[in-house]
Amino acid sequence: MTDAVEQLPLLEAALDAASLAYKKQSQIVANLRAGNNNRNRTDQLQKEETNLRDCKRQVDAAKRALQAAAPETNSDTQAKNVAAAVEGLLRRRFFIAPSFEIYGGVKGLYDYGPPGCAVKNNLLAVWRQHFIVEEGMLELEATCLTPAPVLKASGHVDKFNDLMVEDVETSDAYRADHLLGEHLENLLQQHPQHEHKDEMQHLLATIDELDQKQMDVYLRKYEVTAPDTGNAVTKCYPFNLMFQTSIGPSATQPAYLRPETAQGIFVNFKRLLESVGGKLPFACAQIGLSFRNEIAPKGGLLRVREFQQAEIEHFVNPEDKSHAKFAQVRDVTINMFGREQQLHRPYKPVSITVGEAVEKGFIDNETLGYFIGRTSMFVEQVGMNMKFVRFRQHLEHEMAHYASDCWDLEIMSLSNNKWVECAGLADRSAYDLGNHSEKSGSELRARVNYAEPKRVEEVVCVANKGTLGRQFKRDAQGIIKQLSAMDEEEVKTLKQQLETGECKAQVSGFDIGPEHVSFRKESKMVSGKSLYPSVIEPSFGVGRILWCLWEHCYYVREGEDEADAQTVRRVLALPGCVAPVKCCVLPLSKNVVFESLLAEVRQKLSAAGLVNRVDDSGTSIGKRYARADEMGTPLGITVDFESVKDGSVTVRERDSTAQIRCASVADAVDVVRRLVAGETAWSDVLASYGNFRA
Ligand code: ATP
Ligand code: GLY
Repeated sequence: MTDAVEQLPLLEAALDAASLAYKKQSQIVANLRAGNNNRNRTDQLQKEETNLRDCKRQVDAAKRALQAAAPETNSDTQAKNVAAAVEGLLRRRFFIAPSFEIYGGVKGLYDYGPPGCAVKNNLLAVWRQHFIVEEGMLELEATCLTPAPVLKASGHVDKFNDLMVEDVETSDAYRADHLLGEHLENLLQQHPQHEHKDEMQHLLATIDELDQKQMDVYLRKYEVTAPDTGNAVTKCYPFNLMFQTSIGPSATQPAYLRPETAQGIFVNFKRLLESVGGKLPFACAQIGLSFRNEIAPKGGLLRVREFQQAEIEHFVNPEDKSHAKFAQVRDVTINMFGREQQLHRPYKPVSITVGEAVEKGFIDNETLGYFIGRTSMFVEQVGMNMKFVRFRQHLEHEMAHYASDCWDLEIMSLSNNKWVECAGLADRSAYDLGNHSEKSGSELRARVNYAEPKRVEEVVCVANKGTLGRQFKRDAQGIIKQLSAMDEEEVKTLKQQLETGECKAQVSGFDIGPEHVSFRKESKMVSGKSLYPSVIEPSFGVGRILWCLWEHCYYVREGEDEADAQTVRRVLALPGCVAPVKCCVLPLSKNVVFESLLAEVRQKLSAAGLVNRVDDSGTSIGKRYARADEMGTPLGITVDFESVKDGSVTVRERDSTAQIRCASVADAVDVVRRLVAGETAWSDVLASYGNFRA
């Protein structure tokens, strides 16, 4: 131990050096990406991107070495206890259950039981209000079944893959990176001084970057076997995560279940733009199911095969990403785990306002900052423990080349002792609309008008009718038409193509050379231009948020012990807005004298839109309160013998277990309504009514 502690300054210095090298390399890559895309530059970019990945490997290896010498304080045992307790409660009270359980269940598929379904719907109602209603967004519902060409254009058919291996005897499937990683971790734990220790640590830090060949080499070298049987495993191969099917009885139209809801919005862009009068910026949201055939689902709802997404596509002028309502999030404080914090001591998030983060350029633009602020407000409102919430920026090498900035909402899963990506907030630039325009032939652009008409110098393309006519005969007219319809960007691209490489370009499906066109500069007045909007996309995984929320809200009453399974009182401290039942209604006993008052309480609660449940089982009132606490019910109205005499009832609050006495049922219901709506706080209610002790 002393050795390890003495090593700490050295290891920290090594991490600092690796981080600095990574930052320098990021700058080189960023400069190249910002430049023109001619072929020489593309080759160099690829080379520098490879170097960048190498630098990141070194950062990760240094981080691991440091972590090994100064382990984190979170204990695995604690995490396992949370996992068992929360999962036990969720299953026992039928928040969720494995789908088709009576047939043995299917991995990665879960059904939501009545309370789970209610929490999910409540969470989505808050989401809809917070984003769609308050932001004046459009909303649509596209189909889950998606024809193959759409997902070919989006890149999912070719790139949405994980590497997989199978048990040679049983054919059970495993994700190759997970298998190799777990195997190496076990090996290192058993043999801390293993002869290949350095290589193993390096591999652990870079596993997600191994290609198919490299993965096979290491699976063999470290003799990785199937963990359930000890059998050998096959060579790895890429496995596409989409569920494939076909549309129609003749099976001629290949299709997939959508892996994200986003594409349904992009393909409807034209109509959406029309419905907002052609003006940017505007946003459209969609809540719906997505499907991914995950090789190894795990962690309850954290990695499943069918899950609900709530996605927003915000379309904005790429040259103006300011946000009209930015002032509303300027003072929201977030835990920011930006690139700086990930690459510099003490490698921890910092607390900062969204305003400052955007002003100082940590967050790329106001619109992205706006959604980060709104997302933080949303998770706080639904009851997340904000100590366990952070926004992590993607490092350069994690971002797709078209993305300009990406942040993940990460929430600590206490049962896994791990930060989990629960939402991704990405500036996807014009990638999707550009691709769908090219592949569908439907132009998905918007027009942006300037405040004042401008005089501009534009390069225009002049068709050489003579050479075109001689070579393309009847087809020449179509080519000329297309050449004259080109906008400035297209003309620039054509010019570049004809000036580099083989001096050829495709127009209307024909090969055009420099002899067919000429270019000249023209000066003219223009009132605006047509462009592909940038897309800023907040994409939420509903199940992951729910799972983390349940973990954050779970506790056992002070002084009690989870191990006393029979007597321990468990609480799910869900806020009123998401709790499945808002108020339980309890008669003191089964005596019939309480019946008419009970009916009145129920009727008034229901009329106020407050979901309620009567618990008139014969058990003690304490046990019935405990049962409601475990279901997350925030409030309870109790009818007792005093109530029968004078119509007064008690209201009890879950977290403090304190009670007040209200003079009438109507008054009690109004208190419950105001508390659930967040119009008043329990401390204020207690102060004005006084603490009632039965
Ligand atoms: P991961 O790397 O964890 O697989 P991802 O980066 O592929 O996630 P995205 O493609 O960005 O995730 O999906 C957007 C959101 O959808 C995620 O933030 C997450 O909340 C949710 N999500 C993605 N895959 C799953 C899954 N298999 N089960 C549950 N939720 C998921
Ligand atoms: N639309 C973002 C994602 O699901 O990956």
